[in-house]
Amino acid sequence: MAPLLATLNDRIQAVTGIDPELRPATKPQFGHFQTNAALRRGAEQGRNPRAVAAELTAALDLSDICEPLEIAGPGFINIRVRADVLARVVTANLLDPHSGIEQAGQPQAVVVDYSSPNVAKQMHVGHLRSTIIGDCFTRVLAIQGHHVIRQNHIGDWGRQFGMLIEQIRDEQLDLDTLDLADSEALYLRANAHLTADPEFADRARARVVALQGGEPETLAIWQRLIEISAAGFAATYSRLGVLLTRDDIAGESSYNAMLAGICTDLEARGIATMDNGALVVFVPGFDAPAILRNSAGGYGYDVTDVAAIRHRLDDFHADRLVYVTDARQQDHFLKVFAVARQAGYLPDTVAAEHVGFGMVLGADGTPFKTREGTAVHLDDLLDEAEATATPEVALAAIKYADLSNQLHKDYVFDPARMTKTTGDTGPYLQYAHARVSSILRLAVAEGEQLDDAHSVVTTLDKPEEQALALALVRFPEVVAEVGETLQPHKLCGYLYDLASQFSGFYEHCPVLKAAGETRHSRCVLGRATARVLSTGLGLLGIAAPETM
Ligand code: ARG
Repeated sequence: MAPLLATLNDRIQAVTGIDPELRPATKPQFGHFQTNAALRRGAEQGRNPRAVAAELTAALDLSDICEPLEIAGPGFINIRVRADVLARVVTANLLDPHSGIEQAGQPQAVVVDYSSPNVAKQMHVGHLRSTIIGDCFTRVLAIQGHHVIRQNHIGDWGRQFGMLIEQIRDEQLDLDTLDLADSEALYLRANAHLTADPEFADRARARVVALQGGEPETLAIWQRLIEISAAGFAATYSRLGVLLTRDDIAGESSYNAMLAGICTDLEARGIATMDNGALVVFVPGFDAPAILRNSAGGYGYDVTDVAAIRHRLDDFHADRLVYVTDARQQDHFLKVFAVARQAGYLPDTVAAEHVGFGMVLGADGTPFKTREGTAVHLDDLLDEAEATATPEVALAAIKYADLSNQLHKDYVFDPARMTKTTGDTGPYLQYAHARVSSILRLAVAEGEQLDDAHSVVTTLDKPEEQALALALVRFPEVVAEVGETLQPHKLCGYLYDLASQFSGFYEHCPVLKAAGETRHSRCVLGRATARVLSTGLGLLGIAAPETM
């Protein structure tokens, strides 16, 4: 079913030939939705907008959905949805398996590249944000009926493996006893060794060559390091309750076999040029070129991402590519997209979007660090939030804090504020859901029948009932917007508003103390509210417990 707002937009456009760009009304006295179509057309034709509005409203027959249209102020058209239509749509959405969310007519194959930590290093706050944000995208796109392909582009290749493997051999480490934290400590020791000891540095370099050449013992150790990291990442994912699995890992190394071919192809077609011994592609608008092969013959981050695009198009037939990393990687992705477009690897019909996010700041407003001044590990963050709340609530707090601001903005990691059950927080929404659920439990205990067969909203007489119903019917529209614009804060803001509408409703309209049909209808409104809150929180990756 198309969301109500979209239906109204289409109907008005079909009759008037103007896109009404309907907006939710800013005040209740302006109805439910407003359009400035008459003002725009009036300005275009040099006519009085109120006269244009009168003409438009006369031509429009929306009486099956709306109350008579009203003209307001300089020529706004105010639209109020009929109460019986609101009641019908709330009921229909409640009974719909997709909560009224419109299913993609032509499902897209959407690749979401997210999380993507680096081997032998623990995930840090940047990876935490990527993981939470990317996971939300995959849930929203999936509920719209798209085919979502999760890709965890872990950093599992590069020169650092030379020193790691040499250090393991020097220390005769038993890899079976190593976990991710140990391998990070190993990383630090190897790094220190490298700076202090030129002979070790030589061996590390030779080890890189052996790895690239596929020397069996070297490969085996490298493989073990990846296993150790993947196990560590998996533990964090399960702690976070995100959907990534082992099968979603497609690390940088998985593209190695493609890199030489891409260089040859792009050089042969004159897209790539030699520049100081490196093979590069100059991209208009950027000072530095994309580097395909460095002067030492090595392949790096840029060309690997070009290869990943080819793989995602050729093998997954992707219609849309989404990348979630911190905002500082924006240039990298814009350059890679430009190279892939120029090469014809990425046709214009396939969208490529980099969603960059801001930093996590400490209470003092500077990038979040440990007391020792080192980067904070994700597990420490979780520990810290869990010190203030239960794991389910702590996760809600972190995820909501991550998703409820515009993504590109930095946010302050403040467990005391984030875990509050009042205000614009994840726990507040969980609490709102638990409160509605408890009212419904009482109603059912008192004999109210609230299963699907008996769930019909009938009366919407009070303004607060109508306001709540209107908020409920907007859910599919908001989900559609998030799927398109990838701005989860819109969904957070919507859910927060819905919870407030429910409070207003509950304050002014007795539910358990009402009788007969009114009581039943109000209970069903409650059930619809609980459903939208839990579905909406679910899209954010947040659990909606029935009791708290
Ligand atoms: N491993 C990278 C990092 O930690 C992120 C990779 C993002 N994805 C990609 N396709 N480049 O910064």
